[in-house]
Amino acid sequence: MPNPRFRIRVALLATTLALGGCSSVASTPAQPASSSGSSAPSPTETAAPSGTSGLPEGGIAVPGLGSEQQTNNDPNLPISISVPLVPAQPALNEAVAAFARAQEADFRAAYAPRAEAPPELNVSWRLVQATGSLAVVRVAVREFAGASGQTTLRVFYGDGSASWPAGDLIEPAAVPAFVAAVRRGAAASGVATFDASDPSADTAVVNDLVISADGSITVALGQGVLAPYAAGTFSVVVPPADAATMLSARGRAVLDTVRQGRPYAASGADQVPATTASVAAPTPAVPAPAPGAVDCSAAKCVALTFDDGPAGHTSRLLDTLESTGTPATFFVLGQQVRTHPGLITRMVRLGMTVANHTWDHRDMRRLSLAEARDEVQQTEAALRALGVPPSGLLRPPYGALNADTRTLGMALVLWDVDTLDWQNRNAQTTTDKALAQVRSGSIILMHDIHPSSVDAVPGLIRALRERGYTLVTVPQLLGATTAGAVYSRRG
Ligand code: NI
Repeated sequence: MPNPRFRIRVALLATTLALGGCSSVASTPAQPASSSGSSAPSPTETAAPSGTSGLPEGGIAVPGLGSEQQTNNDPNLPISISVPLVPAQPALNEAVAAFARAQEADFRAAYAPRAEAPPELNVSWRLVQATGSLAVVRVAVREFAGASGQTTLRVFYGDGSASWPAGDLIEPAAVPAFVAAVRRGAAASGVATFDASDPSADTAVVNDLVISADGSITVALGQGVLAPYAAGTFSVVVPPADAATMLSARGRAVLDTVRQGRPYAASGADQVPATTASVAAPTPAVPAPAPGAVDCSAAKCVALTFDDGPAGHTSRLLDTLESTGTPATFFVLGQQVRTHPGLITRMVRLGMTVANHTWDHRDMRRLSLAEARDEVQQTEAALRALGVPPSGLLRPPYGALNADTRTLGMALVLWDVDTLDWQNRNAQTTTDKALAQVRSGSIILMHDIHPSSVDAVPGLIRALRERGYTLVTVPQLLGATTAGAVYSRRG
């Protein structure tokens, strides 16, 4: 049974619905109340997160930046969680991971799977500052229930050995004055805030603070913080003169570091190289079969497909595919491409098909058409930047699509063999499920974010070949595809 907290949460979500739902909420209605040193050279993002989109605008990268992706594949309870692996920031990484775990536990306790308007949880992140030993990560939590949803924002700081929440930047005694300054900024931007009658609501005001080199503080406000849900997420800049009187000792130390504007210099930044190592590794290419070399109208063809990566175990999977000369198709997330570019270029070298699984694994049924386009196009752009040829293929997360999804200019590729690998997490079960359902023309769904799935692949390839199957990519299997059409197998 949901505890009282969740009843409150649902009540708030219902309020959003009454105000018109969330996917159409106008994004970022408030402009910063003051201009803030835009010429500052430090690698700092001060733009507010916008609307309900999880796209990468403004995020920054540092060498060795990694991420961890967890998803289920349940269209009746879609959950996608991405957390950062910032080099040399174990405390920061753990703080974000613990926050994400708590969000997931709350969500699972509050909601059950449902076919009609299923509840969705999506956690994504951006690195917004990295200078000296300081790294700052913004986490966006998008939660949907019924027809409505909310976006919660949280910023985490790390200095290598420790992590702290954004609220620690403000002297505790100064929080009321800080909140008052934020209210003034909102009012100056035309955002109507709630009455200042509920002090407990004010604690969320300090959840997302980023200090600029000029001493101003950009405050991003999640939906329902200080202003009605319909205001969406918005940001306010507290000017340097006000901010200076409110910073804690920790806040002043952060400001000093930001002002120094040094390159990110975490001591371990040069030792994370799951990705950079694979960029550099001279891997002999397995030549992709020439078009027409496999005739799937005659041969018993099967396509192995891997979703939600690339990730930590993908390298081992590529080793297997390479050593067995097996082509496969990867439906990748843009937010994972961002942190694993070397794995993408290796896929291309090996003749794999690299196709689109959206940026951050949102349920496309929850998105506006503009948001859906962004999800696809940002991912396409990230792939083009790495030299991936356009596949024209999109696999919508959870296999969930609507009429808008068909208008995105992509062929929609589902599957007819579901290994349920995300659920069973067992190599033998995954293999057994694949072999029990496979037939000529099948598309097999797996996820390379799970080590058990990667473990299953050598045996599965062997067993499929013993049964006379030819393993091919999805383009080889399907031949020419049509934008907007949905494919779950050949024929
Ligand atoms: Ni997926």
